[in-house]
Amino acid sequence: RRVVVLISGNGSNLQALIDAQSHDRLSGEIVAVVSNEAGAYGLKRAHEAGIDAVALPHREYDSREAYDSALITVIERHEPDLIVLAGFMRILSPHFVERYEGRMLNIHPSLLPAYQGLNTHARALADGITEHGCSVHFVTEELDGGPVAIQAVVNVEAGESEESLKEKVHAREHLILPIAVNWFLEGRLRFAGDSATIDGVTL
Ligand code: GRF
Repeated sequence: RRVVVLISGNGSNLQALIDAQSHDRLSGEIVAVVSNEAGAYGLKRAHEAGIDAVALPHREYDSREAYDSALITVIERHEPDLIVLAGFMRILSPHFVERYEGRMLNIHPSLLPAYQGLNTHARALADGITEHGCSVHFVTEELDGGPVAIQAVVNVEAGESEESLKEKVHAREHLILPIAVNWFLEGRLRFAGDSATIDGVTL
């Protein structure tokens, strides 16, 4: 089973997938990594792991639709079973989302449905919540709104800084992303429209 990972930056979540693969703990193969930022460190990580690393800068395209069409062309060359958004910081057009619906996962730094969108850690702290975390979910047209497959929870301590919270959540992202990816690749995790199922159980 073939996986294409889309990134925009550091790629530490990509690294978690690469590490799983190099320890024979990935139930498939990462066949390509595509970044919309040519300078993304994650492209280096891919290259070092011997994975096809493609820079596809969005600035070279006139519209979101034109970019997403180019992205589809690149992705299709690799005939993926699964697309993973691992810190891909772009909104995808309905055309793109529709095409990969049910076989595209995203990692998001909050306990969805709480804190969709950006700056999740700062917003969570400002609200004074005591539990925060991260989610892996299927991508649908609603931004950060698709069915959740797995979440990890962290406690927010009194006086916790944004930096420390971000670090704690990030460590959990690296744990749950490979789990969800494996569930999908093994045919256990499925998209069922409004929900996700694991081994036939609706989450
Ligand atoms: C992660 O926090 C992810 O949840 C968010 O973007 C960040 C990417 O980090 N969508 P990295 O590039 O994987 O290190």
